[in-house]
Formats: sequence, C-alpha cells, structure tokens
Amino acid sequence: GWTMVNIAEEAIETVRAQVGGKRAICGLSGGVDSAVAAALVQRAIGSQLTCVFVDHGLLRKGEAEQVEKDFVAATGVDLHVVDAQERFLTALAGVVDPEEKRKIIGREFIRVFESAAREIVDVHAARSEARDGVGAAGGSGGSSPQEGHDESGEVEFLVQGTLYPDVVESGGGTGAANIKSHHNVGGLPEDLRFRLVEPLRTLFKDEVRALGEQLGLPAEIVWRQPFPGPGLGIRIIGEVTRERLDLLREADAIAREELTAAGLDRDIWQFPVVLLADVRSVGVQGDSRTYGHPVVLRPVTSEDAMTADWARLPYDVLQRISTRITNEVREINRVVVDITSKPPGTIEWE
Ligand code: XMP
Repeated sequence: GWTMVNIAEEAIETVRAQVGGKRAICGLSGGVDSAVAAALVQRAIGSQLTCVFVDHGLLRKGEAEQVEKDFVAATGVDLHVVDAQERFLTALAGVVDPEEKRKIIGREFIRVFESAAREIVDVHAARSEARDGVGAAGGSGGSSPQEGHDESGEVEFLVQGTLYPDVVESGGGTGAANIKSHHNVGGLPEDLRFRLVEPLRTLFKDEVRALGEQLGLPAEIVWRQPFPGPGLGIRIIGEVTRERLDLLREADAIAREELTAAGLDRDIWQFPVVLLADVRSVGVQGDSRTYGHPVVLRPVTSEDAMTADWARLPYDVLQRISTRITNEVREINRVVVDITSKPPGTIEWE
C-alpha cells in the first residue's frame, strides 16, 4: 500500500542525508531486522555499504545460503562472508554448561565481527589514501591526514536493525550505550568507533516485515520465525560437535518443512527442535535394535516471547514429522513433544 511506499522512501532519504558520501558496514545475522535494515541502506547508498555475515556453523539448514545467495540476489549488496565454523567448534569443544556456551558464542562472534570490520575499514582507508596519492601525484608529496579523514573511502557508520520496542526497552536515548546487550554486534570495542544508522527505530516487527516485502526481499527471509543468536548451539543439550549439529539440522529442517506444508508457519511463533545428545533410548527398526538419541519438538505460540503457550499442533502433522525424522535421520530413534508453557518453561531449553 501507499503507506509502506512512503515509509520506505522517507527512510531511504533520511539515510542518504545522514551518511552522505561516507561508507557504512552492517552485520547480518540471517534474521529479519538486520536484513531489512541492510536492504534499506543499500537502496540509499548502494556500494558505499558493505555487509558482514559471520557463519558460526550453528545455523539451520539453508540459512547461510539464504544470506549468501538469495539476499545478495535480491539486494545486490556487497557481502563479506566470514567462515568461522572451525573457530566456533573449537571454542565450544567440551563445553556443556548453557551459560558458558552463550558466553563463548557471544565472545567469538564479537571477535570475528570486529576483525572483519577492521579489515574492511583498513581496505577502504588504503583505497582512499591511494586515491589521494593519485590526486597529489606531481604535487609536493601527498595529502595531510586531515584531508584523508574527509575522503569518501572512510567507514564511518554502523547499520543496526534496532526496532521501536528495542528503543523503548533501552530507555529511548541515542548512542552506542543503547545497543541491546543481546544484540549480535553489541559491545563493539571503543577503538572501533562508528556512528549508528538505525533506519527501523520507529517501526514494529509487522511494519518491518511489510517494508522487507516492499524492498523485494524473499519471503523466507521476511517471514522467518525468531531464531536465537547462539543458534543450534543452545538446542543441543550436551557438547556441541559437528556430527550432532548435522543431525539436529536434518531433524529441524524436516519439522520446518512439514509445518510449512501444513500452512501453519504464521500461526506458530517459534518451533525449536532440541537434540538430547547425551540421552539414548532403545528402539527397533526393521529387524534391528537401535540405541539412538531423542529429539524434542517445542512448538509455541506467543505474542512477544515473554510468555508462551505450547502449540496444539494437529496430530497428523506431528505424526508426519515423527515418521520422517525417525526414518530419515540416522541415530534419532525417538521424537517427543514438549507441552510446557512459559512460565514455567522457557522457549529454548538452554
Ligand atoms: P526463552 O528461551 O528465554 O527465549 O523463553 C525467549 C526468546 O528469546 C530468544 N533467545 C535469544 N535470542 N540471543 C537472541 O538473539 C539469545 O541469546 C537468545 N536466547 C533466547 C528465544 O529464541 C525466544 O524467541
């Protein structure tokens, strides 16, 4: 409708006015907010924007590809992908405690993002200097640092997908102190000083989704259910290993496929699938005894994730998910459903 067109055009103009000829970077999480913010800023300043996507290996099936291919295809954005899977697996080796996992994942994420941001800043600063050098060729020996600072090559802005509810939660002020603490790029160090671009600051989630559609983003990105920053790392109960991640990714993909096929995506707030990696139970398949792992289905309905109710998924949908997971995923021989509301349960198991 005309309202979203106006919001998009206005926001694009505002970003152009704010950023001018400078450069910006944006961390993509795979989630809706950062994707829409990046798409909007890309419309405003084009190749002056570089996006950074850290693949920590804890993503669901197809998510990295969605960002690397579909998002780039839809927006034409300049994307810098960091494959940090080994690094995260190594850091998580032997770790079982949920809070420790979260701390490690958060810390590694900031380190990887930070060094990628530094590289991008350095590359553009060097290009900017090279241009100065060409301009000054034949002159009396290059430009002053002050001149360099005004060059368009500098990365000065950090784009964030902060929404209106985030602004309200954090007290409504401006500046780096208000970056949500659970935000993926929260806690950037002092010596990487950016000015913030937050084009979604006045919007609610449903408006952000409408804007995303307006900007031509794929439905799989725009209508994605919320997914925690630590990803599948907190949906494996026990140590996180590559093999366990692969199992969970397969089971999770099946559950999502069947939910979508049943037309229930937008009725369900979130649908975590949890691997009880340290539990085994006896089963039988064909003529053979099996001794495999259970997965837990955790479909919930909610308004804001503060409270949630377990979702009464139709029995036939649960049946299809159970049959497919036990048939198709090696080592998973049992599927159980979590019927705990929040409170007392949380949505995630860790
Ligand atoms: P719980 O498990 O506390 O989750 O009921 C509430 C909502 O928050 C999400 N969640 C996270 N999101 N980083 C995030 O970005 C996190 O560390 C994190 N932990 C939980 C969860 O998926 C649910 O939507």
